[in-house]
Amino acid sequence: MRASSRFAAGLALAGAFLTGVDAAIQTVTRNGRYLYTADGNRFYIKGVAYQEQGKDISVRWSRAQAIPFLSHPLSSIDPLANGTACTRDLPYLQQLGVNTIRAYSVNSSLNHDSCMQTFSNAGIYTIIDLSLPGNGSMDRDAPTWTTNLLDLYIETIDVFSKYNNVLAYNVGNEVVIAANGTAAATFVKAAARDVKAYINSISSSALVGYASIDGDATWLDPLANYLSCDPSGSNSGATALDLFGLNNYEWCGNSTFEASYAGVEGQFAGYNVAAYFSEYGCITSPPRVWTEVAALFSSQMSPVWSGGVAFSYFPATSAQGQFGMVTISPDGSTVTTSSDFTNLQTQYAAASPPNSPSQSGAGTATYPSCPQQNSSWLASNTLPPTPNFSACQCLENNLSCQFTPSTSNYTAIVGALLDYACSLIGQSGGSCSAISSNGTTGQYGAVSECDPTIMLSYVMSDYYIANGANAQSCSFGGNGTVNSKAPSSASAANTAASSCLASASGTSVPTLPAGAPGPSGSSSSSGGGSGSSPNAASVVLADARTLMGMGVLVAAGIASGLWTIA
Ligand SMILES: *[C@@H]1O[C@H](CO)[C@@H](O)[C@H](O)[C@H]1NC(C)=O
Ligand SMILES: *[C@@H]1O[C@H](CO)[C@@H](O)[C@H](O)[C@H]1NC(C)=O
Ligand SMILES: *[C@@H]1O[C@H](CO)[C@@H](O)[C@H](O)[C@H]1NC(C)=O
Ligand SMILES: *[C@@H]1O[C@H](CO)[C@@H](O)[C@H](O)[C@H]1NC(C)=O
Ligand SMILES: *[C@@H]1O[C@H](CO)[C@@H](O)[C@H](O)[C@H]1NC(C)=O
Ligand SMILES: *[C@@H]1O[C@H](CO)[C@@H](O)[C@H](O)[C@H]1NC(C)=O
Ligand SMILES: *[C@@H]1O[C@H](CO)[C@@H](O)[C@H](O)[C@H]1NC(C)=O
Ligand SMILES: *[C@@H]1O[C@H](CO)[C@@H](O)[C@H](O)[C@H]1NC(C)=O
Ligand SMILES: *[C@@H]1O[C@H](CO)[C@@H](O)[C@H](O)[C@H]1NC(C)=O
Ligand SMILES: *[C@@H]1O[C@H](CO)[C@@H](O)[C@H](O)[C@H]1NC(C)=O
Ligand SMILES: *[C@@H]1O[C@H](CO)[C@@H](O)[C@H](O)[C@H]1NC(C)=O
Repeated sequence: MRASSRFAAGLALAGAFLTGVDAAIQTVTRNGRYLYTADGNRFYIKGVAYQEQGKDISVRWSRAQAIPFLSHPLSSIDPLANGTACTRDLPYLQQLGVNTIRAYSVNSSLNHDSCMQTFSNAGIYTIIDLSLPGNGSMDRDAPTWTTNLLDLYIETIDVFSKYNNVLAYNVGNEVVIAANGTAAATFVKAAARDVKAYINSISSSALVGYASIDGDATWLDPLANYLSCDPSGSNSGATALDLFGLNNYEWCGNSTFEASYAGVEGQFAGYNVAAYFSEYGCITSPPRVWTEVAALFSSQMSPVWSGGVAFSYFPATSAQGQFGMVTISPDGSTVTTSSDFTNLQTQYAAASPPNSPSQSGAGTATYPSCPQQNSSWLASNTLPPTPNFSACQCLENNLSCQFTPSTSNYTAIVGALLDYACSLIGQSGGSCSAISSNGTTGQYGAVSECDPTIMLSYVMSDYYIANGANAQSCSFGGNGTVNSKAPSSASAANTAASSCLASASGTSVPTLPAGAPGPSGSSSSSGGGSGSSPNAASVVLADARTLMGMGVLVAAGIASGLWTIA
């Protein structure tokens, strides 16, 4: 076990072993665009994806065909929650020579002590994706940054903050996949801002990351630049990522730098924060020879890239074919490696990237101004606010008609009901703009930072009051209940709602709602799944958004009974 402490010291550096030192894993920090261990050596991610695929789940990178995910949002496996499995896998991860694993789906209700300690002792860092399938991730078709997602992210960070081997938290995976969806980047950047503020507030040294699908330079370049820029123009890193991940599968078989990587090398040549391949390992010519490792860890690419994460340790099936480099026996007891494994092992063992520039020579970070909007870059430089739990709770408490689902699996009906309620409001000449957000215009409705269930209570209340507080108009097929404690006149409801949200439009260090589990408590929480993917609720929600986006609702005058937040 102790022999492996060399991994902690930047295993990439041949001859830089911590000889015989039984040292704790070193903290990794970012200086400018490079990563360094505490002893000042440059840190390269020699990684492998470590995520067992849940039953019936198509793998997460095929997000364009995300539907298979949606029908099984809960069939997921937390790869860091079973100490027996982690102990079983450790020798193989050590043979492979990795210093980092990426986990796509963790459940903050579970105990991760055994796995995290096992990997920490072996000098293996973790990259933790904070999003989850189902309703635990931003939906690229109807993106928002809301209290429930922030809550999920913070609960996960709280659970992992006690471990010394969390290298980074990813605030999203492949949220933006095409030019027409780039407005979603405003919400990703807001998530990075709020997660960064939270991480700083608890004195965690973990980096803030995002993993992007590869794509056309006309939107990929501005995406990378946007996620590391400063919209205020004052060289502040407050909204910038530390670590941009590119899921890149361009190198297949015995390719060459010129043929496969020269393009991305050029694209990221002037990048200001650290970048790595958050996934790599093309499967079109099996068995994989992994000759890209020599290129990625060469002095040709080390000025731009800090390593990468090979996909994947466990078997994983996608539309493209079969990934994975080990198989696990049906009883979970034994691991069998494939030639993909031994080939990667050979390549990782031979990789020896330069230990340069020195940490003092890495320079200080600069945060340039953000990309201008154009036809392939739609994101505004005005970000949504930090979701404010207490403001949204205050609002919910004051709403006269509340969403009270009869099923605990309410995710699927929220979107349908939002759609329905907004169409009723539209027919009455009202608008659902208070719950809408638009990353292109940078306009975010006052309620758009709240949990979709609170958005729903809000529009149900709007409709209820417009109908003279007639109990029947709060029913929504048995999904709504009149809140007798709430103000029932339009003006009183508006006053209370506006007052709750009055100070919730800015940026702040996020805090969990009162009563929620804190950093040391065990938490109860949401979802779980293998990967981050769009979700059932918000896909349906998209219908409501489309409806609202049509403009019909906004045009007509507000009917006398309808109210909107001042
Ligand atoms: C939740 O509801 C959806 C849609 O009705 C359904 O597909 C899914 O299987 C349900 N999930 C659970 C865990 O019951
Ligand atoms: C982007 O365009 C594709 C078709 O090219 C479409 O399927 C998708 O819904 C569009 N996304 C958005 C957010 O408009
Ligand atoms: C939009 O701007 C980006 C730079 O931010 C540029 O790479 C891209 O080509 C531009 N798109 C178009 C359609 O001109
Ligand atoms: C790659 O090159 C090696 C050695 O030249 C050869 O043995 C192997 O078959 C090639 N593999 C592929 C996938 O082209
Ligand atoms: C943990 O993993 C081991 C090895 O795969 C397996 O036998 C065991 O059932 C797992 N435990 C749980 C609680 O899933
Ligand atoms: C959040 O909202 C509450 C309730 O309106 C307000 O008291 C508080 O100041 C807000 N917090 C921040 C940081 O804006
Ligand atoms: C209702 O709103 C008022 C005004 O914002 C606030 O003071 C009060 O606490 C809210 N009621 C509840 C039960 O949260
Ligand atoms: C997802 O929906 C379930 C109910 O179906 C809920 O318990 C959970 O809190 C939601 N998670 C998020 C992040 O919204
Ligand atoms: C609640 O709303 C859903 C979606 O519109 C509907 O299918 C259901 O019948 C409603 N009533 C109850 C009690 O769930
Ligand atoms: C997370 O773990 C808890 C506790 O075991 C469990 O109840 C919950 O279903 C898990 N969530 C998922 C999505 O698997
Ligand atoms: C956002 O606003 C722009 C400009 O008004 C509009 O073209 C676009 O459709 C809106 N997007 C959404 C999702 O409503």
